Amino acid sequence: MAQLPIIYYPDPRLHTKAAKVDRVDASIRQLAADMAETMYAAPGVGLAATQVDRHIQLIVIDVSEDKSSLQTFINPEILAREGECEGEEGCLSVPGVYETVTRSAWVRVRALGLDGQPFELEASDLLAVCIQHEMDHLQGKVFVEYLSRLKQSRIKSKLTKHARVTA
Ligand code: NI
Repeated sequence: MAQLPIIYYPDPRLHTKAAKVDRVDASIRQLAADMAETMYAAPGVGLAATQVDRHIQLIVIDVSEDKSSLQTFINPEILAREGECEGEEGCLSVPGVYETVTRSAWVRVRALGLDGQPFELEASDLLAVCIQHEMDHLQGKVFVEYLSRLKQSRIKSKLTKHARVTA
């Protein structure tokens, strides 16, 4: 396994729309394993392939305290959603920024697992929010795009300065 470099907002590659995975093969399983390692090391609770500059519909998530519930979603679709919840979100591609976003409180998702087989899952609370956040990445959307233009431009200039200092 290997850690992968994460790309940071406002990198335009984060706005790439991910293609569906045709076949769940060894290379997809390897990428999912590397993404999980990258997510745990960061540390974070979710990572989309978009964030490691691989533009396919693949997400890894683990919202558990003890890294015991790794879940992989390939070609995820939201079949149903209910309610609303507001929560503070962060993103591995937007370091140091935490802002409140409104999401559906409950979702039913269909995806393929690492075995290539379809499964359905009902999620609420943090897991539901995380699934929606990561699925946005696959559509080329970063959570800060839910914020006001003023906030977005402040975040952009803060992260651009940060990149200059650390580059
Ligand atoms: Ni994110």
